[in-house]
Amino acid sequence: MAVGGAAFPTGIKWNTVLGCESEQKYIVCNADEGDSGTYSDRMIMEGDPFVLIEGMTIAAIAVGATQGYIYLRSEYPHALVTLNSAIEAANQAGYLGDNVLGSGKAFHLEVRRAAGAYVCGEETSMLESLEGKRGLVRFKPPLPAIEGLFGKPTVVNNVISLASVPVILDKGAAYYANYGMGRSRGTLPIQLAGNIKHGGLVELAFGITLRELLYDFGGGSATGRPIRAVQVGGPLGAFLPESQFDTPLDYEEFTKIWAVLGHGGIVAFDDTVDMAKMARYAFEFCAIESCGKCTPCRIGSTRGAEVIDKIIAGTDTVKNIKLVRDLSDTMLNGSLCALGGMTPYPVLSAMNHFPEDFEMKKAKAAA
Ligand SMILES: Cc1cc2nc3c(=O)[nH]c(=O)nc-3n(C[C@H](O)[C@H](O)[C@H](O)COP(=O)(O)O)c2cc1C
Ligand code: SF4
Repeated sequence: MAVGGAAFPTGIKWNTVLGCESEQKYIVCNADEGDSGTYSDRMIMEGDPFVLIEGMTIAAIAVGATQGYIYLRSEYPHALVTLNSAIEAANQAGYLGDNVLGSGKAFHLEVRRAAGAYVCGEETSMLESLEGKRGLVRFKPPLPAIEGLFGKPTVVNNVISLASVPVILDKGAAYYANYGMGRSRGTLPIQLAGNIKHGGLVELAFGITLRELLYDFGGGSATGRPIRAVQVGGPLGAFLPESQFDTPLDYEEFTKIWAVLGHGGIVAFDDTVDMAKMARYAFEFCAIESCGKCTPCRIGSTRGAEVIDKIIAGTDTVKNIKLVRDLSDTMLNGSLCALGGMTPYPVLSAMNHFPEDFEMKKAKAAA
């Protein structure tokens, strides 16, 4: 099972934490949900907080952790209230506390309000923030599973990953694995947003195509114009053109087209979108959200936005397009975390799939 976003198998993480000798282990639920157009974590926490509590408790018993934290996006006031009252009810009913359902095993759970920065969703930055420090990304290794919160073995999972655990234990692995395709098993809550007629959330098995999602579920664009591009997987996800709309939602299939599924957020744009501006926005977003620890991201993002400004102005277009590609290469290979490391996904996919929006700037300006 790998459903939260980074597509790392949950079982391997849990096994690593289980195998660590430590007097204290933690379960941390990443509920920072910062990706654009996503809200499936919020829907789960507000609609069925007990499924998350149950999933975290199972994780705790499985790996020998006694303390859990839910790192909750600061803009989720209703989820905060709902989670806190559900945790209180679970404590009173004996589902949480010193002796979980008479098992002799303890599990205590608390909600922590997040710091309000996108980068604090990155797991090591989140751990720093949970420890009361600035959300600076940590070097890896050590992995959080070995040295995580307060230096102790820590399971870090997304809300969706943890909320998927109870149904797997209830109905069996085969039931869950029966959904999906290839190595992407189970379901994914897909969130349709942006310029789409019927925005919303639909939970489906992996394997559905983008086109089915955009047209059968989403009803096409809200403006009635052709959908020209979609960004899948949040602000660090690639832009996909119409020719790729038949790609099934599957981790491997997306990897083949140099794209990511992330947290299942799909943002649609009609044919009025200017992809050079979208590429610029990707750099700008990275510059604003960068934790500042490494140079390719901290400096590269600002320089990237400046160079795209020149392309938009039609200045030395060919030279500047090459410069953006070189810079993207440095960010891809030299960034410490995926914020800097994946910003080239939206930038390069915009350049590769929509070259006319970059190369033609001067001609368009003159026309
Ligand atoms: C810049 C950045 C932001 C992230 N934001 C989130 C987030 O808001 N929620 C989340 O679950 N994972 C986020 N992640 C991924 C986490 O680092 C981590 O992989 C994830 O919480 C692991 O959960 P999973 O294995 O259950 O998917 C982010 C990663 C990066 C690099
Ligand atoms: S890539 Fe950006 S966010 Fe990540 S560690 Fe480097 S500076 Fe910080």
